[in-house]
Amino acid sequence: MLVSVTEMLQKAKAGKYAVGQFNINNLEWTKAILLTAEECKSPVILGVSEGAGKYMGGYKAIVGMVNGMLEYLNITVPVAIHLDHGTYDGAMAAMEAGFSSIMFDGSHYPIDENIAKTTELVNLAHSKGVSLEAEVGAIGGEEDGVIGGGEVADPAECKMIADLGVDILAAGIGNIHGKYPANWKGLDFDALAAISAATDPMPLVLHGGTGIPEDMIKKAISLGVSKINVNTECQLAFAAATRKYIEDGKDLEGKGFDPRKILAPGVEAIKETVKGKMELFGSIGKA
Ligand code: 13P
Repeated sequence: MLVSVTEMLQKAKAGKYAVGQFNINNLEWTKAILLTAEECKSPVILGVSEGAGKYMGGYKAIVGMVNGMLEYLNITVPVAIHLDHGTYDGAMAAMEAGFSSIMFDGSHYPIDENIAKTTELVNLAHSKGVSLEAEVGAIGGEEDGVIGGGEVADPAECKMIADLGVDILAAGIGNIHGKYPANWKGLDFDALAAISAATDPMPLVLHGGTGIPEDMIKKAISLGVSKINVNTECQLAFAAATRKYIEDGKDLEGKGFDPRKILAPGVEAIKETVKGKMELFGSIGKA
């Protein structure tokens, strides 16, 4: 069932667990994540960056693919299609195409401009039953060619944005996209506690889920994080499994060149990764 994230994340916050946002890149990714969510009876959020949206042939193609799979695969758990790090125009286009949730990332604007644009988009989103994630304090690392510095968000600014009526809030707490460098200082839990206190009961979002140690993930959930985004880890698992298939020469045996066979080990690797995250986040059985 395609739903917004509002109810699923309010429940997660109250129940002290988090729902995973797993970014999709193609049909295999989408099917692997949906089947795992159903098997685990876990709610799930399919993340789509603007780059991935272009890659897959546009937002309408994605909505059609996901809706078709929900029906064909008998998926009964709550599923959201969520625009990841949307621009203003991207958010408009994703809503138009039928996304059930959008992120508007205005973190690189001065706070007044972030507030003005977020206000306009949240009103439009809610008139369509779509949920909106806002961001304060840019997440570090690289995403679709945009490099953020890994800022720590100001709790007062977080409260200003939370008070606009957004559904969920991503706040930078030293997290970054992609692999963490060896000298990473870890998540800033003092900042997270202050942001959580200032914005409660708003469910908070932790970006850059790849490579954050398990104890930090659990502590972040205990401090109000209800949505955790994972992208790179599925990509690494997929790439390693695909590499093994080719290096083992499996594509040269019989019909091993069939794309459905070549991609199968990668799909299994994504399923395992997603299941592991759902266990860690505590969302299994919560659908
Ligand atoms: P990772 O690629 O580090 O898992 O981050 C994903 C993310 O935050 C998407 O918005």
